[in-house]
Amino acid sequence: MRIIHDPVELQTLALSVRRTGKRIGLVPTMGFLHEGHLSLIDEAKKRSDFVIVSIFVNPVQFGPNEDLDKYPRDFEHDRALCEEHGADVIFAPAPDAMYAPDRSVWVEETKLSRGLCGALRPGHFRGVTTVVAKLFLLAQPDVAVFGQKDAQQALVIRRMVRDLNFPIEIVTAPLVRDTDGVALSSRNKYLSPADRERAKVLSRSLFAAQRGELDADGVRKAIAGTADKVDYVVWLDADTLEEPTENTREILVAVAAYFGTTRLIDNVLIQEKK
Ligand code: PAJ
Repeated sequence: MRIIHDPVELQTLALSVRRTGKRIGLVPTMGFLHEGHLSLIDEAKKRSDFVIVSIFVNPVQFGPNEDLDKYPRDFEHDRALCEEHGADVIFAPAPDAMYAPDRSVWVEETKLSRGLCGALRPGHFRGVTTVVAKLFLLAQPDVAVFGQKDAQQALVIRRMVRDLNFPIEIVTAPLVRDTDGVALSSRNKYLSPADRERAKVLSRSLFAAQRGELDADGVRKAIAGTADKVDYVVWLDADTLEEPTENTREILVAVAAYFGTTRLIDNVLIQEKK
């Protein structure tokens, strides 16, 4: 497995790998890898011949009061996990190598990114689409794998790929949970044991919604009663992020809430009976 820090070196390698006829799979991450990330690497491995994992805590997707400086990092651990899961390259650029001080071009999705996390984290999705577009041009993937954990992010990236004609297949892999139901996240590291216990309310209420035991209001009440602050609890068409209609195929129930100072997100999909 190679570790590459220089963006142009990655691009040169990727272009030469493609010339040999191999399919490249890309898994973009911010590191501090857990089983959720590893499931994406396994998926990329199945769908391609050459897997590139990027590890880059992308500064431009963090707001001024967010956790950029204290975002958890452990490169040696990440390196060992990528190696174990058969990645061919880790791309780990320095922020200065990705962003020129006088950069002036952004990639922005203007519809799906407006609500939910986009409304509460201004500029966040513009930072995500910009870095993912750059990673696509550097890693030259045939297929890129994202997690359903960040349901809105996956939709925004699909829309970017469609609207800008990136010749890349986007795969959305299922959300991976811990044995207690809590969605795996690098940010779970911040939770105190008591907060972690309380955080189970997210998956517990979402599963109840999936079983038809709670409606949107029920989920909202259950979460508001336990979390320290609720950013949103929504019940939307999973493809459009708009209010469900009679054409809705699948409902996305998505939540974002704080436990202590840690903001967690979670979601489930509910098939509409037709
Ligand atoms: P990060 O939060 O590190 O997540 C990287 C990828 O792992 C995303 O596609 C995310 O949805 C997926 N993931 C995280 N937790 C997961 C879980 N429990 N189950 C399944 N997949 C999970 O998302 C980002 O980084 C960044 O925004 C990035 C796309 C890398 C752009 O900077």
